[in-house]
Amino acid sequence: MNPTTAAPPVPAGQRSVQYDAFHAARARTDLVARLYAAAMGEDYPVEVAASSSCDWPLLGLMTARLKMRPGQLLVDAGCGTGGIGLWLARALALRLEGFDLSPVAIAHAADRRSRFGLPAERAAFRVAELENTGLPDASAHGIVCVDAFGGAADRSAALRELGRVLAPGGRLVMTRAARQGAAPAWTEQARAAGLTVEHVDERPAEPALWERLYQLWIAHADELRSELGEAQAQNMLREAHQVLPKLPGRRAVLLTLRRPATSPAGPCAADTMTRPGHQPDERTPK
Ligand SMILES: C[S@@+](CC[C@H](N)C(=O)[O-])C[C@H]1O[C@@H](n2cnc3c(N)ncnc32)[C@H](O)[C@@H]1O
Repeated sequence: MNPTTAAPPVPAGQRSVQYDAFHAARARTDLVARLYAAAMGEDYPVEVAASSSCDWPLLGLMTARLKMRPGQLLVDAGCGTGGIGLWLARALALRLEGFDLSPVAIAHAADRRSRFGLPAERAAFRVAELENTGLPDASAHGIVCVDAFGGAADRSAALRELGRVLAPGGRLVMTRAARQGAAPAWTEQARAAGLTVEHVDERPAEPALWERLYQLWIAHADELRSELGEAQAQNMLREAHQVLPKLPGRRAVLLTLRRPATSPAGPCAADTMTRPGHQPDERTPK
């Protein structure tokens, strides 16, 4: 599922329904995971089981760009069923807050926590939107956002919100896509959110990955229908047919945006937060 290139924007309620249906259908069968695995080959991180372009090279790149230390807080924005944040939190000994629009995805993410050996005190999940995370100011040392930013109804507001949550010196790593040869306004968008562009890492193999995956979806259309149901299979096949023709001109990158370090040695909210799940509002973490 690749909302960075798919579908025109739809209202928040409907988006959640769409994503809920996808995550619920995916949980009923391992067919979707098998097709991702077939498309990625050895680059498929089985345990992560992302619904995105997250392969081993991306996990490695995100790890290198985040430059986080044990005990720091990582936010997984648009976390889906949580595999990316859980894998990074365990590998790097981090605390984790994951959030997603979809309550179904969040329930699965919370269920998967124990499989990564992480207690609720180390890894919390909540239903929230990119434009309104409910997280405290300057609370995160790092944020990952993989193939989810395209789901924001207002991308400027979403970037400002993630910038607000980031601690001084912290980094946001996010997948983005653009047309080849276009001049995306990433620097201006980052500046408007109080961030600077630290790295733009090209992901030249990513469009071919989507092409392999979409061809597999089309080739397994009957199986998708019987295992996921007609409606969900139709959504996936529609996405495949809509996005496939656009892939040859697609440029995929990992952007690393940094919040300037205002006081290099001083403590900030991120350093004083004791555990993930600390709530500034009444939403309950899972
Ligand atoms: C393609 S999936 C990727 C999930 C996860 N990042 C991964 O890589 O497996 C996109 C996710 O973004 C979530 N999403 C879309 N729009 C969102 C928004 N405005 N706020 C929060 N989450 C959103 C969806 O519910 C979905 O779980």
